[in-house]
Amino acid sequence: MSIERSLVLVKPDGFARGLTGEVLRRIEAKGYRLVALAVRTASADLLAEHYAEHVGKPFYEGLVEFMASGPVTAVVIEGEQCIRGFRSLAGATNPTEAAPGSIRGDLGRDWGRPAQENVVHGSDSPESAAREIALWFPDLG
Ligand code: RTP
Ligand code: MG
Repeated sequence: MSIERSLVLVKPDGFARGLTGEVLRRIEAKGYRLVALAVRTASADLLAEHYAEHVGKPFYEGLVEFMASGPVTAVVIEGEQCIRGFRSLAGATNPTEAAPGSIRGDLGRDWGRPAQENVVHGSDSPESAAREIALWFPDLG
């Protein structure tokens, strides 16, 4: 048994479009547990740390600008294999290609902006999850 935690963000597009509840509904319907939840607007420092792996990529500046453009809902979820499980629920990065049935496939689209606005973020590995949860929820043991 391997109980994992993952950091999920409802990104500023999803928050502004009133999709937080729909994302949480899908997480809960899948069977994952909500451990922590907060609405906040990310600082430039937090985003620089969160997206350090993407520094220098063509979409980096646009991504940070997008992610700082309004509130996000940050959520820690828990359950066996929830890191891969949520990535599967979220679907492909590009919302045009994300499969119908996935969050990005059902709720996202291309808006012609420098960074893809794709409704949600999910940690991509146990190491990323630990790092991201410590960043967004420093009080969580
Ligand atoms: P995330 O980290 O948000 O869960 O998304 P991901 O793993 O599926 O994608 P990643 O490669 O980590 O990229 C981070 C976010 O950057 C934006 N992006 N835009 N315009 C583009 O080609 C492009 N590529 C990436 C998306 O918001 C993506 O989720
Ligand atoms: Mg990623």
